[in-house]
Amino acid sequence: MRKILGLLLIAVPLFTQGQTDARPDDLLKSDFHKQKRAELRAKMPDNSVAIFFANAIRNRANDVDFLYHQDPNFYYLTGHKEPHAVLLVFKDKQEVNNERFDEVIFVRGHDALRELYDGPRLGKDGAEKTLDIEVNFENPSFKGFNLDFSKFDKVLFYDFQNDVRNTEEEGDLFDLIEQFKQKAGYKQGDLAIEPQKNNLDVVSLDTLMRELRGIKTKEELDLVRKAVDISTIGQREVMKAMRPGMSEAEIQGIHEFVFKKYGAEFEGYPSIVGAGNHGCILHYIDNYKPAIEDGELILMDLGAEYHGYTADVTRTVPVNGKFTKEQKLIYDLVYEAQQAAADTCKAGLPFPVLYETTAKIVNEGLVELGLYESLKDEDIINPETGRNRYYPHGCCHHIGLDVHDKGLYGTLEENMTITIEPGIYISNGSPADKKWWDIPVRIEDDYLITKDGCILLSDKAPRKSDEIEKLMKEPSIFSDYRLPELKAGE
Ligand code: GLY
Ligand code: MN
Ligand code: MN
Repeated sequence: MRKILGLLLIAVPLFTQGQTDARPDDLLKSDFHKQKRAELRAKMPDNSVAIFFANAIRNRANDVDFLYHQDPNFYYLTGHKEPHAVLLVFKDKQEVNNERFDEVIFVRGHDALRELYDGPRLGKDGAEKTLDIEVNFENPSFKGFNLDFSKFDKVLFYDFQNDVRNTEEEGDLFDLIEQFKQKAGYKQGDLAIEPQKNNLDVVSLDTLMRELRGIKTKEELDLVRKAVDISTIGQREVMKAMRPGMSEAEIQGIHEFVFKKYGAEFEGYPSIVGAGNHGCILHYIDNYKPAIEDGELILMDLGAEYHGYTADVTRTVPVNGKFTKEQKLIYDLVYEAQQAAADTCKAGLPFPVLYETTAKIVNEGLVELGLYESLKDEDIINPETGRNRYYPHGCCHHIGLDVHDKGLYGTLEENMTITIEPGIYISNGSPADKKWWDIPVRIEDDYLITKDGCILLSDKAPRKSDEIEKLMKEPSIFSDYRLPELKAGE
């Protein structure tokens, strides 16, 4: 009973809010998604069908789930944000159950009790009104959907992960997948060994989606720009607020406050806020250090997601506002590497050149500073990881609906959006002289590729060491707040 009452308190405000709230008016429109389905259809091989499932709901603990996030391919092609749905795109019109169409979506039906708790569902009626997909059904009818998959030369889909729960709801995602497997003659494990077997193919669709999603349209670029602007305004506010004694989580919280204030819904990926040696853990997301120490560097990889599109921006700053001599030498070397890559960036450049450009500068710079003895592999490669000891990751990836977005990595093309993110991480205990220990630096920026070069999108947050120091002297709106002290036992 207590649980139900607790949920009621949450459910009632959500429900009343839903009746008065206007949705943001800068979401992608149904035209965009329709156009993308048409572009996919044009790329699909003759006599084929492509099937996309909505993302699974994932459980956090007991009866609480993680916040739901739609599968980016599914969102890109439909604009539908709800779980438990399947989309079929056909190369040619099909006749099924006496109707002819070249696309069809199955969505969840209404359920008054569930909607009382979770908010309104689109249902078939809502899907017809808003999604503009030729034919809409509710999920339970997928079972009787009379489509003979054996007649296609290609049935294109993504292979299934074993992470979908069966619920009591008829036609939930689990049922849709099982019914599809049965209709298409799919046996779990078959395609792991042979990804193109009979007419089933779990590899080709990804290439088509990479070709499509890697090149952004004007509507998408508007959203990427907003996500990046919001994230970098957040980074500026964090830099101004920063002082020794703050916790890593507090910095994460300030950034989140700012991006929520600007209407970004989520983090695009778990925030990384690592002080000192924590910054050397590439995907450090615990952010637990209670008090950052004077003299430490703090690495902040913070990207907001705005209407599905995410930024990916890292700044590394001295918590007390002033780089030490060693910190500045390493910082400026990373900056030089990043800027050199940005200077070469333009349509037509092979993607790998970006990493090669940054690695050359980093490696030569570290030899000059005495951290590497020479440019020979045996001096640079850490035998335990097989990676460059102090620059152990790649430098660039697409951003968009995913932080590591779908896109191709052959040649840069106009209207790609990518990161350039070199880093040097000298952890406590590394073979370098102790004066270099606990220096993690990553500088990560977001760029739009153009015909003749690239445009720095994340220019609202300073990148140069002296500009960072200057900004950190500015007053912060977060300086004056006071919260009551929390005393145990009171
Ligand atoms: N934020 C993850 C990355 O930089 O790739
Ligand atoms: Mn990145
Ligand atoms: Mn990042």
